Amino acid sequence: MTVKDVKIIELPKFTDPRGNLSFVEQLNHIPFEIKRIYWIYDVPGGEARGGHAFRKNEEFIIALSGAFEVIVDDGKQKKTFQLNRSYYGLYVPAGLWREMENFSTNSLALEFGSIHYDEKDYVRSYDEFLKLKSHGEI
Ligand code: TYD
Repeated sequence: MTVKDVKIIELPKFTDPRGNLSFVEQLNHIPFEIKRIYWIYDVPGGEARGGHAFRKNEEFIIALSGAFEVIVDDGKQKKTFQLNRSYYGLYVPAGLWREMENFSTNSLALEFGSIHYDEKDYVRSYDEFLKLKSHGEI
């Protein structure tokens, strides 16, 4: 996997004077079966999270509220995606280093995962990530 496999996906949006509505479906807008949903909230403005890679877990990230950046890195190239609308999702395949930065105050990140939580799926050392990537092991 490379940063070219990371994709912004535009979600359906029903604009309505009563308030807008968007939705996501697994195996449709989200290209995997959803096994887990979690959210990141109450992040102090400017804080960073998520410096790690997943061996198997694929992710789909939505900025439900506010804005933040997702920086993806395949060991050769880095790419930054700004998420600031609730009708865009970011698909991040497994095997990429990713960080989340510059959270705006009161931002809310909703994340869908393709596997249940498993600490063994995390690579938390960037040096180890580079080693695994260069050996084609992630
Ligand atoms: P982590 O994924 O390391 O956070 P981030 O990448 O955003 O900095 O998760 C922080 C802690 O939360 C982790 O040590 C264990 C726990 N956790 C779960 O128990 N289940 C989950 O689904 C997630 C995402 C985290």
